[in-house]
Amino acid sequence: MCGIIGYIGNRNAIPVLINGLKRLEYRGYDSAGIAFFNGNKINVRRCAGKIKDLEVSIKGEKLRSFTGLGHTRWATHGKPSEENAHPHRSGGIVLVHNGIIENYFELKEELKGKGHVFTSETDTEVICHLIHSYSRKGLDFEAATRAALKHVEGAYAIGIINESEPDKILAVKKDSPLVLGLGEGEFFIASDIPAFLKYTKDVIILDNGEMASITRKGVSVSGIANKKPVKKEIANITWSPTMAEKGGYKHFMLKEINEQPRAIADTIRGRFSLEKGEVNLDEFSLAESELKKLNKIFLVACGTSWHAALVGKYIIEDMARVPCEVDIASEFRYRRPLLPKGSLVIVITQSGETADTLAAQRESGKLGAKVLSICNVVGSTSAREADGVFFTHSGPEIGVASTKAFTTQLTGLYLFAIALAKAKEKIRSDDIRELFNELLQLPEKVEQSLKINDAVLKIAKRFYHARDFLYLGRGINYPIALEGALKLKEISYIHAEGYPAGEMKHGPIALIDNNMPVLALAPDDKVLEKILSNMEEVKSRGGKVIAVATEGNTRVLSRASNVLFMPKTNYYLTPIIFSIPLHLLAYHMAVLKKCNVDQPRNLAKSVTVE
Ligand code: G6P
Repeated sequence: MCGIIGYIGNRNAIPVLINGLKRLEYRGYDSAGIAFFNGNKINVRRCAGKIKDLEVSIKGEKLRSFTGLGHTRWATHGKPSEENAHPHRSGGIVLVHNGIIENYFELKEELKGKGHVFTSETDTEVICHLIHSYSRKGLDFEAATRAALKHVEGAYAIGIINESEPDKILAVKKDSPLVLGLGEGEFFIASDIPAFLKYTKDVIILDNGEMASITRKGVSVSGIANKKPVKKEIANITWSPTMAEKGGYKHFMLKEINEQPRAIADTIRGRFSLEKGEVNLDEFSLAESELKKLNKIFLVACGTSWHAALVGKYIIEDMARVPCEVDIASEFRYRRPLLPKGSLVIVITQSGETADTLAAQRESGKLGAKVLSICNVVGSTSAREADGVFFTHSGPEIGVASTKAFTTQLTGLYLFAIALAKAKEKIRSDDIRELFNELLQLPEKVEQSLKINDAVLKIAKRFYHARDFLYLGRGINYPIALEGALKLKEISYIHAEGYPAGEMKHGPIALIDNNMPVLALAPDDKVLEKILSNMEEVKSRGGKVIAVATEGNTRVLSRASNVLFMPKTNYYLTPIIFSIPLHLLAYHMAVLKKCNVDQPRNLAKSVTVE
C-alpha cells in the first residue's frame, strides 16, 4: 500500500508533490521519490527513508516544473532502497504505482529477452518497459499505455508522464484506489484525498478499468480496454484533512477493520492456482520435497500474532497432521527449546521488529532450524534475516491494536497448511479445490460480516460499564476468545479473560453473576453442543451471555441475551469471520469510554525492547 500523487497546473509542482506525499505518508514510508520536468526532460529524485529525507536531499536546489509525480513507498517487491523507490523509468516514460503486479516475473523475463535492462527489483518497473516498448513501435502515449496494460495482471493505481507529451498525465486504476482533484486550471491525482485537500475539495473517484487523461485544460475519462468515454460525477468533499487521512473513519483502527476485505484479497492474490490445485509458496522458499520431510513445526510470536499462531496449530495439525508447538517468543528463547532434526520454525510478526520475536528467530537459527517469517513489513529485520518470508501484504497498520494484520496472518497460515497437507498427501485434490473456493469467497464474506457493526454497537452500549468480561471459545476459536479479551483490555481498559469454554467449570465459573457479561463463540462446528451447554451453565448462574453464532443457528437464541450472527464458512476460516465482531466490540466500548483507541496508554505498536 503505497501513496501516489501527481500534479499538472500553473504552480510549481515540487512543493505540491512534497506536501501531498507528507499527507500520504501513513500509507507507507520506507522510501520516496518525485519526477518533474526540466525543460523537455524528466528528472527523477528518489531516496530510501521518509519524505523528510527526500525533502532534505533536494533542499536548496531551485527545482521548478508545472507537471510532476510523487510516490511514498511501502515495499512489497524488493527491499526499501533508492533503486527500488519510485518513480521508475524506461526511456521517456516515467511512472509511479501502487498495487501488486502478479505476473511481473514472467513479463520481466520476456522483456529481458528482448534486450530491456532493469535497474530495480520491483514489480512496477515492468510496466514502464512495456509502455516504452509500445511507444517505440510508434503508438502514442495513450495507445501504448492501453496496449501495455493488456499484459498486466494484478492490482494497480498508476500515474504516468512522458517526455514526448510533457503536458499530460495519464492515470489508470484497477483494484487500488485513485482519485482526481479538480482545481482552477490545475489537476491532481492521488491515492487518497488528503494529498490535495489543501488545494481543492472537488474530486472524481476513478473506478476499476478506467483511464484519466489529464492536461492543464481538463480531464477526460475512458475505459482502459474499450476506450469508451465515461461520464464521471464530481463529488465535493466536506471532510477535514485528518478525517480524510483516515478515509472518513474516526480512527485508524476502524478504518483498518474495514479494510480487511481488501487486505485479505491482497494476501491471497497470486498465492494459489485453482486449476493446478497448488499453493504458490515461492517467497517461503519451501519446495514440496522439503515440506514432505517436515516432522515438527514451531510457531513463535507475541501478542495478537501469538493468537494467530495458536489458531495456526489447530489448522496445521488438523489439515496436515504434522505436530505443531506454539510459543510466546519471550518464553521460547529462555526455555532451551528442543528442536528435533526436520523441524521448521515459523515466526509470525506484523512489524517484523518485535525484539522478543527477533531473539527467538535468531535462537532458532543458532539451533540449526530453518526459520521462516510470516510478516507484514517488507524490509523489516525479521523479513531480512529469515530463510524465507510470506508477506501478508495487508498494508501499513497504524492503530496499535492489530486487526487486519491478524486476519491476514490467519489467511497465510491457512495457505501454508494446505501446501503442507498436499505435500504430506493428507488431502485430496477435490478437497484442496473446495478450500481454495472458500478462500476466494472470503473477502466477500468479510465484507458481509462487517455489516454486523450496528448490532455490535448496540451491545457495546449495553455493556461498556462492565468491570470484567469473560470470553469463551472452544477448539479453533479458543484463541479467538483470547484475542477478543486482549483487544478489550488493551483499548478499553476493561479487565477481560479469554478461556477455553470447557475449562470454565474449573475456576472462572466462580466469578459469574449478573454483573459479569460472558461472550461465547458458538460457530456451527463439532463442538457446538459443548459450547451450548457452557452457555446454559452461565445463564443458570445469572450471567449474561452474548453469543456469536453462525447464521441460521436458532438454538443459541434461548441461551443468550444478545446474539451476533455471522456468515457461514468452513471450519478453518471461522476464526477470521468470528474475530470481526470481537474487534468491533472492543472498538465501540473504547470509544464509548472515551479512550484513545489508536494509541492506548502504555502500549506501543512495535515493541523493540525485551
Ligand atoms: C505489540 C502490539 C500488538 C502486536 C504485538 C506483536 O504488543 O501492540 O498489536 O500484536 O506487539 O507485534 P508484531 O509486530 O510482532 O506482530
